[in-house]
Amino acid sequence: MARRKRSAADFFPKSISLSRLRAAAEDCRGCDLYKNATQTVFGEGRARAPLMLVGEVPGDKEDREGHPFVGPAGTLLRKALEQAGISLKDVYLTNAVKHFKYIWRGKRRIHQKPKRTEIVACRPWLQEEIELVRPELVVALGSTAAQTLLGASFRLTKHRGEVMGSDLAPRVMATIHPSAILRAPDERARHQAMADFVADLKRVRAELRGRRSP
Ligand code: URA
Ligand code: SF4
Repeated sequence: MARRKRSAADFFPKSISLSRLRAAAEDCRGCDLYKNATQTVFGEGRARAPLMLVGEVPGDKEDREGHPFVGPAGTLLRKALEQAGISLKDVYLTNAVKHFKYIWRGKRRIHQKPKRTEIVACRPWLQEEIELVRPELVVALGSTAAQTLLGASFRLTKHRGEVMGSDLAPRVMATIHPSAILRAPDERARHQAMADFVADLKRVRAELRGRRSP
């Protein structure tokens, strides 16, 4: 039999809880991204959160501080959640890839999109987070997270806002990444992108409420 490819699963603890999983991920060498990053940035939030939000990869600030979504995209995400009436207490926040990927530009570390092989190598952590948290709904933020959860052929432009099934979770919805709002070309576009993002999150909230009522 062909040797199984290296992945994060090689670093799982024997008996699994969220805290043991997080501790084990600190030593992950499932792909090469650990080499240039400061630390693993694992998911955080309520253990049995009804909602799991999945980003792409930690950024510069996340890498230095060790927590997901603590930089500019995270600030925007929190603002949008608040506007949509979603409490952070109901959320588990994580990323498709757990180590910061970047290139140096002068003195700045510029975020790089993870490669397909890195996403696949890191996916076992996300898979296990989903199994342990058991959220009612997983929301993919941006196409990297969406393709991780829904397959490489998933197109955000076609299926944004739809609740879909995936092998990792029964109910997944994809929307934009908050950093896309930061990249909007002007104030008007930024405003519109934020309004659309908040509208998606309101739909997320309605989905959760819909499931909770008898
Ligand atoms: N962008 C992400 O996708 N994740 C983070 O944690 C921060 C920025
Ligand atoms: Fe492991 Fe993921 Fe980090 Fe790669 S990016 S070393 S698979 S935790």
